[in-house]
Amino acid sequence: MVRVIDTTLRDAHQSLLATRFRTADMLPILDKLDRAGFYSLEVWGGATFDVAIRYLREDPWERLRLIREGVRKTKLQMLLRGQNLVGYRHYPDDVVEKFVETAFKNGIDIFRVFDALNDVRNLIVSVKKAKSLGAIVQGAICYTISPVHTIEYYVKFAEELIALDVDMLTIKDMAGILDPTTAYELVTELKKRFKVPVNVHTHNTSGMSVATYVKSVEAGADFIDTAISPLAFGSAQPGIQTVYFALPPTRRPDVDLNVINEVSEYLDRVISERYSGLLNLKVLIPDHGVLIHQIPGGMISNLISQLKELKAEGRLKEVLNEVPKVREDLGWPPLVTPLSQIVGTQAVLNVVVGKYKVITKEVINYIAGLYGKPPAPINEELKKVALKNVKEITVRPADLLQPELSKCVDQVMKLGVPATDENVLTYCLFPETAKEFFSGAPPPKQETTPKAEAPQPSKPDIDVNLLIAYAQ
Ligand code: CO
Repeated sequence: MVRVIDTTLRDAHQSLLATRFRTADMLPILDKLDRAGFYSLEVWGGATFDVAIRYLREDPWERLRLIREGVRKTKLQMLLRGQNLVGYRHYPDDVVEKFVETAFKNGIDIFRVFDALNDVRNLIVSVKKAKSLGAIVQGAICYTISPVHTIEYYVKFAEELIALDVDMLTIKDMAGILDPTTAYELVTELKKRFKVPVNVHTHNTSGMSVATYVKSVEAGADFIDTAISPLAFGSAQPGIQTVYFALPPTRRPDVDLNVINEVSEYLDRVISERYSGLLNLKVLIPDHGVLIHQIPGGMISNLISQLKELKAEGRLKEVLNEVPKVREDLGWPPLVTPLSQIVGTQAVLNVVVGKYKVITKEVINYIAGLYGKPPAPINEELKKVALKNVKEITVRPADLLQPELSKCVDQVMKLGVPATDENVLTYCLFPETAKEFFSGAPPPKQETTPKAEAPQPSKPDIDVNLLIAYAQ
């Protein structure tokens, strides 16, 4: 029998409603979710923290405590981006440790920890801290497709995670490109080699998710991630009410479909009353293109807007062809935040301005090793050009960071806000947004189709007009 992790209150609304689902609308279903028979509920982390303070002006810590009050039996889990926590840069170790400790104190039982480059050094501090508190750790393997991302590659990374004493392995397919056959092979291999339970996390972006889960379970997966319709399918996880019947009767999870159906009815009503404007047809319709070029939908819309800015709208096709070339030059990084933005911007510049005529600051930092170790070696020629005046690092990136926590305490006190661990961490992670949040300023105007995540530090640090002149 497979067990189920429900993502409705985190990944599902992050994927379908731009992470905008409010705490007040979560509270009425907590009791039902608690009684539905799920192994755990993913309710926190990812983009939810940032969006809560930035756009909803809600305290994410308070959300967590309220969910914990309403969910007494079922475990709660969060998605943690390793040394990036729930932000977009590496934080120093004192901030990472305090964040994990405070999340645990406020009600998180399970930490799912990943690094965009599958560089285990970016996971060590958060995993060790969570283990020392007695929390459960799911070590996540970012899944992508490239010549170096073979079954052996994933097994080798899984070995490194196991050496960190993680309790479970999660195959994290953030783009929805894990096909059923590969899922079967990968789960079979991980089950054969390791004693810990194996979990599969996919998205329905391309429409393959149910088949991927059926084959994963057939291969022995112990856990799968699903959501509850109408916050399911599209670019989110597939719905449990469908996955349940797709599985062979002997492997179906022990969940209460009646209670789950009640949650569906509630969500149906609340979404049509209050959130329908956020539903974006683009993420609801299966995108087969992602299976060909492996470029997630969100990244393509970014590329289009960057091309517009450079007055080169007609060159999308060339950019889509350039993306895998840049990926290869950079050692095949997975296209996940923040690397998708970094690769995408460089591909646009290569097409519009000329091959590596302009190299973004982010690409230089990446080549210098500041994000971690790439899956494969970086193109030597590119490295020479990019690191002309920059030193390459070989240490763990966060080793170069100074402690920040006590400075954040001072800043929070200056703002006249109680310097609780929670407030200090909110400030440490997002200082500018935290200032606005603490001051009670109204949130920025909502775009009609808001982005799932806040703007990334991805823009090239160069003059757009200069580029346009250069290109012509
Ligand atoms: Co996901």
